[in-house]
Amino acid sequence: MDAPSKEFALAGSLEELKLKGRLVVHGGHRPILVIYDRGRVFALDNRCPHMGFPLERGSVEDGILTCHWHHARFDLESGCTFDLWADDVPICPVEVRNGDVWVKTTFTHADLAAHWHQRLANGLAHNLGLVIAKAMHGQLAAGVPQAEIVREVALFGAQNRDGWGVGLTILTALANILPVLPDEEAYLALFHGARRVAADCDGEAPRRERAPLGSRPDPAALKRWLRRWTNVRHREAAERTLLTAIAAGFSPAELADALFAAGTERAFADTGHSLDFINKAFECLDLIGWQHAAALLPTVVGQMVAARGAEESTAWRQPVDLVALCEESTSELADLFAAGRSSRDWSGHAALAQELLGDDPARIVDALKEAIRAGAAPADLGQSLAYAAALRVARFGNANEHADWETAHHVFTYANAVHQMLTRIGTANIDTHVTAVRGVLHGAMALYLARYLNVPPARIPGDAGEQLDDLPADPETIGAALLDAFDRQRQVDLAASLVARHLTLGHSPQALIATLAHAVLREDAGFHAYQMLEAGVRQFGAWGDTDEGRHMLIAVARYLAAHSPTERASLQTADIARRLMRGGELHQEAGSS
Ligand code: FES
Repeated sequence: MDAPSKEFALAGSLEELKLKGRLVVHGGHRPILVIYDRGRVFALDNRCPHMGFPLERGSVEDGILTCHWHHARFDLESGCTFDLWADDVPICPVEVRNGDVWVKTTFTHADLAAHWHQRLANGLAHNLGLVIAKAMHGQLAAGVPQAEIVREVALFGAQNRDGWGVGLTILTALANILPVLPDEEAYLALFHGARRVAADCDGEAPRRERAPLGSRPDPAALKRWLRRWTNVRHREAAERTLLTAIAAGFSPAELADALFAAGTERAFADTGHSLDFINKAFECLDLIGWQHAAALLPTVVGQMVAARGAEESTAWRQPVDLVALCEESTSELADLFAAGRSSRDWSGHAALAQELLGDDPARIVDALKEAIRAGAAPADLGQSLAYAAALRVARFGNANEHADWETAHHVFTYANAVHQMLTRIGTANIDTHVTAVRGVLHGAMALYLARYLNVPPARIPGDAGEQLDDLPADPETIGAALLDAFDRQRQVDLAASLVARHLTLGHSPQALIATLAHAVLREDAGFHAYQMLEAGVRQFGAWGDTDEGRHMLIAVARYLAAHSPTERASLQTADIARRLMRGGELHQEAGSS
């Protein structure tokens, strides 16, 4: 007898199915479970959507199929689960013709992209890692652009939590490096970003929208007001002011200037996280489109106005009043930039960075002033600061306490944020933009306070022509050795040497960055590891394949080596999802026993 179509396979006779209750159809497709229950025939993917256990070994009662591993329950007719963590089981059409049972061997949806979009929304809403992973895999396989996926997750995060959080920061950091990642790593990056956003929103009250003012005050007034509301910690007022600036058509550079001027009302606020989050919100909008500015940007305001400034801490007041030093210098900035306006070919980034690593705060501030006078633009200062902060990490002494890595990390990611924001703000209106440059002064003082981290300094491998000939030479073996180093605890110096070896031999920096990204994405990485990776890659882009660029990636590798390995539970979830989505049988042995 002919099959109803080529897509159908014969499961067996109806009599046989009635007798046995269930049959499994094997072939060049997923195993299909055919079940006879109370006069009806159903066909489902035989692999439990949770972890692939064969559903043929489950039980059926009252129209409910129960998997016998973790006991997830499914509606036999629709495949929908009663236990959200397990996900729905795909079903397929079944036909009975002339006493034979035929099943369609393809599991598909009319609009795959729409289907996986909905599944991702469900996964995010209920913080279901496995569902998120499958939906991510499904969307990518359906050809949904990565930027569209990032947009969906970012808007979910903005709407379902009252304020920007670490999840959106991780999502943005990973989305920023997507262009340098191979496909498999891009899947992992999007999965990590989405799962962290979902975790951030789990159990949180959704965000309540505010409206812009009905008037359109002049830009200078809006900028002034934003600083005022930040000073008095008036969140509602600050949000409405920001929304008004967005509605008035402020450019991204103007918005950056306004928020950075307000955000630097407090020095190194929330150990740098406040400015870092502001920068990440801007980068997120670059990725998902500035038409979402009103939905996304106000999410950073709550933390900005509530943040604790370093001026409240003793270390910034005694024995030297670093806050007063910054304030005094801020009042001179406009004149200094005016003096430097005639010379715009300043290139002393690396030399200034060395000065910033000094142990006299007054001299550090003087070095910044001298650079401005000599023609350094705000973004130049940011680049020097970021390099100096990376050197703190690259030279982090192994005698420090482990928790001190975070002190070094905070200054570096803050400095990277300052550099990115000052680049965005630009120099078009330098006379009105100098307030934001306070971020550099604050960063320089935070860097000064962290000088103990380099006493004694760790040696940076590869300097002065060091070849490291005791290490492998070909890039694949170096990469494998690097991953092996990350697989063991306390391999900080070896990881640094392997990075230096790779770059001093002239191998591709992109291949090295992909290896570092893989090292992060396979772990249950902490928030800071994602930030460190992305900031390091971003700063490497500013310096290129130079000594300074090598120092950047050594800083990344040393930090990652100090925080690896972890349990890799998320990688396991991602791997299960990938295998289920590709139709693999995860538990053949159990199924055949
Ligand atoms: S409930 Fe089926 S594999 Fe876990």
